[in-house]
Amino acid sequence: MEDVKDDDMKNHSILILDDDESIRDLLEIYLSEKYKIVKSASGFYALELITSQKIDLVLVDVNMPDMSGLEFIEQARIVEPDIAYIVISGNRDIDTAIEALHSGVWDFIQKPFGDMNSLDKIIRTALDKRELILENRRYKKNLEKMVQERTSELEKKNQELLLSRNRIVGILSRAAEFRDYETGQHFIRVSKYSGIIASGLKMDNYEADLIRQAAPVHDIGKIGIPERILLKQGKLTETEYEIMQKHCEYGEQILQSQSLENLNIPLNTVIPEGYNTDDLLTTAANIAKYHHERIDGSGYPLGLTGNDIPIEAKIVAIADVYDALGSVRSYKDAWSEKECLDYIIQNSGIHFDREVVEVFLNNIDQIQAIKLAHVDKEESHLIIGVI
Ligand SMILES: [Fe+2]
Ligand SMILES: [Fe+2]
Repeated sequence: MEDVKDDDMKNHSILILDDDESIRDLLEIYLSEKYKIVKSASGFYALELITSQKIDLVLVDVNMPDMSGLEFIEQARIVEPDIAYIVISGNRDIDTAIEALHSGVWDFIQKPFGDMNSLDKIIRTALDKRELILENRRYKKNLEKMVQERTSELEKKNQELLLSRNRIVGILSRAAEFRDYETGQHFIRVSKYSGIIASGLKMDNYEADLIRQAAPVHDIGKIGIPERILLKQGKLTETEYEIMQKHCEYGEQILQSQSLENLNIPLNTVIPEGYNTDDLLTTAANIAKYHHERIDGSGYPLGLTGNDIPIEAKIVAIADVYDALGSVRSYKDAWSEKECLDYIIQNSGIHFDREVVEVFLNNIDQIQAIKLAHVDKEESHLIIGVI
């Protein structure tokens, strides 16, 4: 930091606070060439002055009748901590002046003023130091602002990244709908039911959100199933059913993120701490692969049992079956709500995980409200096909 130049000095205001008029005048004569000067004989009035106008430095007498110099500084520093306070002391109160240096006073000047150059030097040094402190503070503030701006920029980019990732998964589930016209709003309902169950299982918001976002792609593998089987009216033959079951593995293959490594697309975005680029795809792949597994091992494609089945798949399994039972399919009518719930309860611990069933039933009001809000309309198949 360079010294404050003479030209700039006139921009600085100095308050002379002394009950002795001759001292005030003497200092004013000497200093007014270089600084704007304000004078006061009273500490109380000086307190008003420092808050009502710009003051950079106060020269304050130690001994004054209405308020001592130190009392003034104590109160003044509370309202204007950035002003440079310099004490003027006589020989008798030099100890008080030195003591004042420990309580926030910047420097002291002794009366009578012998060499005015040293007074000038003390004032310049104090103003330089003050400028440096203020400059430093401005710099820090600016830096904090810049960091804040960058952080919110990064957060915004992150949100955009997450949003576009979610949209891509949404696009995938819509692609599946194009081939499976029959299922109407099934994907939306299964997604919402799954989110409610995940939250009910005390998963944190992020995990519950992953499951809610990944649930609609549980049947993405149906893309690989021939239309004559996928859209067949009536019951499937054993061979057709075996082919149909393959949709779980096809789904996993489509969603496996490792398979994308071959694409070798460089990722220039820095992934923030706590985020994993693969978590949504991994969750979706697990759901696609294991949503037809059953707790007792009688499901497909692997016949896994109990906790070998990922929790996201257990959740979607119940959401998917509950919704399919209550909907019309080419091979069946819609079951009544009571029949659907009876099936879920009877299959707790057999087809479905007991804890997941419990949470499902505890949240049945919310689930039924979603069912009502997303009823399949007859023409909805067409709408989905056209969007
Ligand atoms: Fe399925
Ligand atoms: Fe489904």
